[in-house]
Amino acid sequence: MLGLQLSLALLSACCLFAAAFAHPQHGLKIHLSTADGLLNSSTTGRILVLFAPAGVDPLEDVDVATTPNYFYGQNVYDFDTGDTVTLTGGSRKRTSYGVWGYPNASLDDLPAGDYTVQAFLNQYEDVTRSDGSQVSLRFPCGDGQKSVAGPGSLVTLATNVTVSGDFQTIELTFEAVVPEDPLEGTEIGGCSQGNYPDTEILKRVKIRSEVLSKFWNRDMYVGANILLPFGYDANDTSKRYPVIYSQDHWTGGDPSFAGYYDADLIQQWASGIIPSTNGGEGRETPKLILVTLRHEAPYYDDSYAVNTANLGPYGDAINDELIPIIDKMFNTIAKPYARIQEGGSTGGWESAASVIFRPDLFGACFSSYPDSLDFHRHQDIPLYDAQNAYTRPNGSKIYSVRGDVDGVLTNLVTVEQENHWELTYGTSSRSGNQWDVWNAVFGAQGLNGYPLETWDKVSGEIYPEAVEYWKPMDLSNYITSHWDASTKNLGEILKNRIFISVGTWDDYFLNEGVAEFQKRVSEKGGPDWANVTYLEGQPHGGLYQNREIWNYLFFLESWITDHAPDGKTPLSENVTRPAARGNLWGDVIARGGRQAALARQAPPKLQSKPGWQGRSVVEGSVGRWDPGVQLEAQWIVQLAVVGRKRGYKEETRKSGVVKGRL
Ligand SMILES: *[C@@H]1O[C@H](CO)[C@@H](O)[C@H](O)[C@H]1NC(C)=O
Ligand SMILES: *[C@@H]1O[C@H](CO)[C@@H](O)[C@H](O)[C@H]1NC(C)=O
Ligand SMILES: *[C@@H]1O[C@H](CO)[C@@H](O)[C@H](O)[C@H]1NC(C)=O
Ligand SMILES: *[C@@H]1O[C@H](CO)[C@@H](O)[C@H](O)[C@H]1NC(C)=O
Ligand SMILES: *[C@@H]1O[C@H](CO)[C@@H](O)[C@H](O)[C@H]1NC(C)=O
Ligand SMILES: *[C@@H]1O[C@H](CO)[C@@H](O)[C@H](O)[C@H]1NC(C)=O
Ligand SMILES: *[C@@H]1O[C@H](CO)[C@@H](O)[C@H](O)[C@H]1NC(C)=O
Repeated sequence: MLGLQLSLALLSACCLFAAAFAHPQHGLKIHLSTADGLLNSSTTGRILVLFAPAGVDPLEDVDVATTPNYFYGQNVYDFDTGDTVTLTGGSRKRTSYGVWGYPNASLDDLPAGDYTVQAFLNQYEDVTRSDGSQVSLRFPCGDGQKSVAGPGSLVTLATNVTVSGDFQTIELTFEAVVPEDPLEGTEIGGCSQGNYPDTEILKRVKIRSEVLSKFWNRDMYVGANILLPFGYDANDTSKRYPVIYSQDHWTGGDPSFAGYYDADLIQQWASGIIPSTNGGEGRETPKLILVTLRHEAPYYDDSYAVNTANLGPYGDAINDELIPIIDKMFNTIAKPYARIQEGGSTGGWESAASVIFRPDLFGACFSSYPDSLDFHRHQDIPLYDAQNAYTRPNGSKIYSVRGDVDGVLTNLVTVEQENHWELTYGTSSRSGNQWDVWNAVFGAQGLNGYPLETWDKVSGEIYPEAVEYWKPMDLSNYITSHWDASTKNLGEILKNRIFISVGTWDDYFLNEGVAEFQKRVSEKGGPDWANVTYLEGQPHGGLYQNREIWNYLFFLESWITDHAPDGKTPLSENVTRPAARGNLWGDVIARGGRQAALARQAPPKLQSKPGWQGRSVVEGSVGRWDPGVQLEAQWIVQLAVVGRKRGYKEETRKSGVVKGRL
């Protein structure tokens, strides 16, 4: 007889959702429908129901650290006039289809009491990207990707309800669409060619990006706010100016330039004179063009200014489409030594990455308290070594925010809280918030078309295979693995061009990633290869090295003067060669896009091998799946017996099918 033995190697079956959650079934239900005539067609998106203390505007405080509110999210698919969506319960298991809330996952845990409740439906758009991925996402429209109540969202009236703690149904109806916020400017952002009005010194540029529109199969725009120096004369093309590119979150049309300027400083900039503080003569303002960029994106309020498999070729859109137009429209010095990248936090990472990936375009970066430059510390998570992003091996929680509360240095918010809070706003990294956009920017695309998350959003379990995809965006890893002349020669090319400043009490532990970066580039290039300033005890915020604005701009101007062709230390053309470019779109999409996701998969395989005493042994493997996919292997056996005899017709008889679990 035939021996049959199945030995399946379960590759990534695991134990994520082992914990069972028993809730007191208090039976609160929310029914949501939509007023007749509101919807143009059926819609897909995320419903958010916000409960605030009675009389408080539910939108007033939805921040993770301070919220006194309860809010609940649920995805809806093809929601149409006449449909009713029911929100009830909520669990760790069904976050894609069921309720997930914050601070409590389940509606059953909403304490009885008087609330003002309001619901929103964040509408998604179905798109097919040029690599074939189909995704449903919110494309922001001049609002900087609001997580809730952005323009275009459906909204109910704010309604007072008493939650009884017993069986109860709350009926809510979407009555209106949130309009564009006139305070945010009538038109900018991702949805049309409109723009803010120009003033004499503040100019607006916006382009339809060819590369982004092609990738997303819809019109995509990027823009810039351009502050011209005193004395600028558009007609005098012989007088040209260096450009400071300030990277930041969504600035909209804010003329305060990343918050550097209040009205007084703008006034001084316009007048060309910085008044003296001691009654002496004033000083002339620096002769620089200051640029902030507008690149709100799916997944976040800005794109991180690089090419990524999940957001698209934003690096190319900004650097190869928008900047050449700025150089054409304004009297810039279109040379790397005269283009500085600077910024803090998100902008710290973006400015550093822009120089590291485009040393052919920019001269130097002055990057303050940047998002993690080295994922040995992603905030305070030792990403390459840890097994869980929320909890250390000894059981203590990993914090995301620390602060100074009444003079006491304290840890405030955990990574787990922030991630659970984000998951309420959106599944599959679609919250429009920080941890999600890091997945989108640093990582690959999953087989589901959304970012391949590096850890399970509910449990915090880290998937090393997904972390591996982040390595090209680990900037010290990128630099040190392209260090020599045999690669991109970045050891020579980037030397003396990276300036970083960070406080040792950064609110988000970002000093940790700077220290890891510094350690790794120093091992190769010596302690001064990158110029890092640690500001003792300083928190997150401020300009580079805590400089005052005018001092900072003169300081940047002096770097440019020194590195000009006639300066003390000209920036040599051999360090601005195009060959040193990195983050090439072709590489990014090949490694992290749809084709890579497909290539990562393999079906289960069975193989029969000769075994003991003429028997066969069947061996199987579960195939290849994306990290984190829960596998449940089942064998299905059927015995087929072929009978042959001289004079007989060959005949195959089959047994029934027997199934079993492994
Ligand atoms: C229906 O389409 C109009 C015109 O494009 C738009 O202003 C409105 O917001 C849409 N309604 C919904 C519910 O999306
Ligand atoms: C809702 O409750 C608050 C607090 O009790 C009250 O001030 C407010 O007038 C109520 N709103 C409505 C519409 O009843
Ligand atoms: C709901 O969340 C809050 C804040 O984390 C917590 O204190 C409370 O115990 C939770 N309630 C239940 C029933 O789990
Ligand atoms: C620049 O030239 C244009 C066209 O010749 C003219 O209309 C404009 O007034 C000039 N601007 C300045 C500031 O001289
Ligand atoms: C757990 O480990 C962390 C990091 O090593 C340490 O800072 C913390 O004090 C430890 N906590 C406990 C309760 O042992
Ligand atoms: C670039 O040129 C300078 C001066 O000519 C030289 O010192 C340096 O080694 C060169 N660097 C590279 C990367 O070729
Ligand atoms: C680092 O940069 C600062 C300016 O921010 C400069 O004063 C200092 O000399 C630089 N250090 C080195 C070692 O180049």
